[in-house]
Amino acid sequence: MTNPSRYAETHAAAARDPEAFWLAAADALTWDKIPERAFDPGQGPYGRWFPDGRLNACYNAVDRHAEGSRRDQAAIVYDSPVTGTKRSITYGELHHEVATLAAVLAEMGVGKGDRVVLYMPMVPEAVFGMLACARLGAVHSVVFGGFAANELAKRIEDAAPKVVLAASCGIEPARVVAYKPLLDAAIASSSHKPGACLILQRPQCAAVLDPDRDRDWAETVAAAKARGAKAECAVMAATDPLYVLYTSGTTGKPKGVVRDTGGYLVALAWSMPNLYGVAPGETYFCASDIGWVVGHCYIVYAPLLHGCTSVLYEGKPVGTPDAGAFWRVVAEHGVACLFTAPTALRAIKKEDPNGDLVAGYDLSKFRSLFLAGERADPDSVAWAERVLDRPVIDHWWQTETGWPIAGNPVGLGLLPVKRGSTCVPMPGYDVRVLDEGGREVPAGTMGTIAIRLPLPPGCLPTLWGSDERMRESYLSTFPGYYDTSDAGIIDHDGYITVLGRTDDIINVAGHRLSTGGMEAVLSAHPDVAECAVIGIRDELKGEVPCGFVVLKARVERDPAEIERELVAKVREEIGPVAAFKLALTVPRLPKTRSGKILRATMKRIADHEPWTMPATIDDAVVLEEIGESLKDRGIGQG
Ligand code: COA
Ligand code: AMP
Repeated sequence: MTNPSRYAETHAAAARDPEAFWLAAADALTWDKIPERAFDPGQGPYGRWFPDGRLNACYNAVDRHAEGSRRDQAAIVYDSPVTGTKRSITYGELHHEVATLAAVLAEMGVGKGDRVVLYMPMVPEAVFGMLACARLGAVHSVVFGGFAANELAKRIEDAAPKVVLAASCGIEPARVVAYKPLLDAAIASSSHKPGACLILQRPQCAAVLDPDRDRDWAETVAAAKARGAKAECAVMAATDPLYVLYTSGTTGKPKGVVRDTGGYLVALAWSMPNLYGVAPGETYFCASDIGWVVGHCYIVYAPLLHGCTSVLYEGKPVGTPDAGAFWRVVAEHGVACLFTAPTALRAIKKEDPNGDLVAGYDLSKFRSLFLAGERADPDSVAWAERVLDRPVIDHWWQTETGWPIAGNPVGLGLLPVKRGSTCVPMPGYDVRVLDEGGREVPAGTMGTIAIRLPLPPGCLPTLWGSDERMRESYLSTFPGYYDTSDAGIIDHDGYITVLGRTDDIINVAGHRLSTGGMEAVLSAHPDVAECAVIGIRDELKGEVPCGFVVLKARVERDPAEIERELVAKVREEIGPVAAFKLALTVPRLPKTRSGKILRATMKRIADHEPWTMPATIDDAVVLEEIGESLKDRGIGQG
């Protein structure tokens, strides 16, 4: 039987002649100087894409559509059930907003290469802010609103922004989260002080402005509009950074993933028709947050580049108001492609197990559902296929890669879906599974997933301010490869299954978090002698963190009180997004002879998986104690 998909020949063409493949893909963009070369292996830690190309990201995402036939087409549909607001913004209007805001930023001293931190909820102004930075050639760095002041401070410290763009608050279904006090605390504790902050006052919670530093967003932009102030697009090298996005590393210090301009936009432009099978003019709904890589790529840059309408959704999959929320958005805005996290599906499935709420909506324009951010459990995929009667595509990527490493390229012709697998590598990705010694393992064998260098366009060229940390973190374990830190399997058909991280990163509701970072918070508590944080299985969020602490010998306080303090401390220092709700006091931690904590065994006990009883009675007793503590809280097998 012949395969109608054009996947195999496409991937092979990119492998055979990457220069020709990516130069042809680059035609999708409008360049100030068309690149003559696709790749220069001599630059950066492993090479740079489109070294001689020049362009502007905002021009490609906004101006060229506003100047052309899409001027009156909706670029962004803002749909906010938490505020009861809906607003459609055409490409023409988006151009006006972005060019004006860019002029405001320029007046505040922001220029090419300067950094601007955004700490904002899912409101149109956040997108205007990102694009205004891109217009000026400034580097934006968006910080997710669920992070606490301390995490924001680390990012401000590292990125050293000239200006911060923030809103007075974010809105969660059960509460209004005042952002401004968190921003003030972050700036107070950071040694770098931004020159100015532009604050969007939301009616749900007004912020107190510092007259020496803060400016009111609406007033400043209105004054600029009255003057007719507009900034033009700066011509940037394709290799110039477009943004820095911080992600959890194995230490408490987040990694500043650098995204270049040309390679990134080429990869995104390729992905829209070929991977997602979406045409210009159609509506794309990525139900993520602009604070995550998925939001940068598929709420902001890719749909706009491709001339689509992008849905900016300020709400949740359930509870705003019910588990039919996504289907309402899909029907109301004529969504062709929906992209969400498996956690969201699980939340919907839990509340509407038969998919009854789907039936009430006209989903006639809806063609496919894409999932990423964490492992998609086959049950949830099967459930979604059944209730939606459409392909449900699991695809795998990382903040570092900037676009999917593997997926089922719907636009090239759907390949057979194997539930539990993220399907095949995208063009430019040469994915291998290696053993600990760096040798490739046979098909079907588990190992570390690595990508042969060079990485394709779109992937991180380096880490902010540190080629060395880039080499150490990703390129040194397996020389000649990028180490994904994901374990997995490639089967005989070339399908990739991602099984989990090989480092201390855990995935909580599709949010990437470092257990090392949480351990640092716990160990700083005066009563804690030592601790270990592991990710334990959770029906809704995939994984949730669980902290085990051993108290100092002299401590006589009630352990339950200390546990409550630890939970509050992680929330205060990392943020509510960590979902750290479980701290357990244990007499000892199980360790190997060399003193390494047996985290994997503890996880197996908590996850109800078989585990091997250690050889010595002493070790067995420690593990039994861990099991008992978990059992007391209704977790694990005891
Ligand atoms: N600003 C401030 N706080 C935020 C926030 C934000 N932008 N986003 C989340 N939080 C808070 C929540 O209010 C919650 O606080 P709580 O402990 O007081 O309840 C905490 O962070 C955890 O949030 P979340 O992980 O969203 O859990 P939830 O229980 O509120 O909701 C789901 C559960 C399933 C609805 C939610 O996890 C979800 O929508 N998941 C999909 C995630 C996703 O799309 N990820 C994208 C990765 S590709
Ligand atoms: P982030 O950088 O936040 O996008 O998180 C990246 C990590 O999420 C990856 O290294 C994986 O561990 C996990 N991940 C993302 N997508 C998938 C997927 N489709 N299947 C399994 N794990 C995934």
